[in-house]
Amino acid sequence: MKILGTGSALPKKIVTNDMLSEFLDTSDEWIVPRTGIRSRHIISDEKIEDLGAQAALSALEMSGLKPEDIDYCICSNVVSEYVTPGLSCVIGAKIGLKCPCIDINCACPGFIYALDIAETHYIAGKVRNVLIICAEQPTRMCDWTDRSTCVLFGDGAGAVVLGPGSNVKGIKLHSQLDATKIWERNSLMPTPYYEGDNRAIGLQMNGREVFKFAVKASTSDVEDLLNELGMTKDQVDWYIVHQANYRIIDAIKQYLGEPDGKFPINISDHGNSSSASCTILLDECNKSHMFKEGNTLVFSAFGAGLLSGVAVLEW
Ligand code: COA
Repeated sequence: MKILGTGSALPKKIVTNDMLSEFLDTSDEWIVPRTGIRSRHIISDEKIEDLGAQAALSALEMSGLKPEDIDYCICSNVVSEYVTPGLSCVIGAKIGLKCPCIDINCACPGFIYALDIAETHYIAGKVRNVLIICAEQPTRMCDWTDRSTCVLFGDGAGAVVLGPGSNVKGIKLHSQLDATKIWERNSLMPTPYYEGDNRAIGLQMNGREVFKFAVKASTSDVEDLLNELGMTKDQVDWYIVHQANYRIIDAIKQYLGEPDGKFPINISDHGNSSSASCTILLDECNKSHMFKEGNTLVFSAFGAGLLSGVAVLEW
């Protein structure tokens, strides 16, 4: 498979660190050195399905394909207002898709898990054109009285249209399952019979443990996959790393021994937009003509699960 088009869409509301410090005991001086985040786009009067649709239409336009040309749609999403149907179906109906649609919830590495599913369908000869949409609103998961989590996130959507080709060199998925390090609990409808606790609990995270997992998983994912492919780091032109925290990306860079210039960054004005992050960054780099034909791109992402994944693609 091969990337034919990319797209992205962001909420219009931009919230700076100073705006957060108007109602939270936090500051730009605390947030910037620990995370690299200065501002983030946050959903206000938009719907995540509209941002997903906008990103998908933009990727379709770049690919030269029409919605009816897509054979399969995968939407990576952690939370939406819809429990059913899946967000892929909601977005698909808006943009006029005619194909099967599935949702996945693999948290921040969702784009790489979606690429892996798509690749499996290509190998099986079942698809010609696949649409991946990563549409995320982690700000709707946070407890906005908890300064240790809500300052980290931003919302948005990114999309990729895939077509036939042999540009994916390899994909490797990894898990270190532990549901206690990052989690959020939903409230479900009450019934006359259910006797358990039904309170929603906003996002909970052990920041230090997640930080260590992210750096270790990303570094070993990248090194293991490059070794398996018989490639060296010299052959990598760009690392598109999940934009969770600038210090995480910096540590990965140090462990890999790779230069700053290979790591495009947009965390400063986006925050962590979960699985949308890699696709938004990809689209921004693509639209600024950063990639040359034949460049090697390495995608690496990590998050709740704990899950991580890496993909090596030729542009
Ligand atoms: N503003 C001001 N103070 C804050 C704060 C904020 N937004 N958030 C936490 N603090 C305080 C804490 O209350 C604590 O105060 P105390 O020492 O009086 O108890 C102090 O800062 C240190 O907190 P700690 O959690 O130990 O800070 P840290 O250096 O580990 O940094 C993170 C916290 C969240 C920035 C860091 O752990 C991190 O980035 N982890 C990875 C998170 C992540 O990226 N998750 C998503 C992955 S997909």
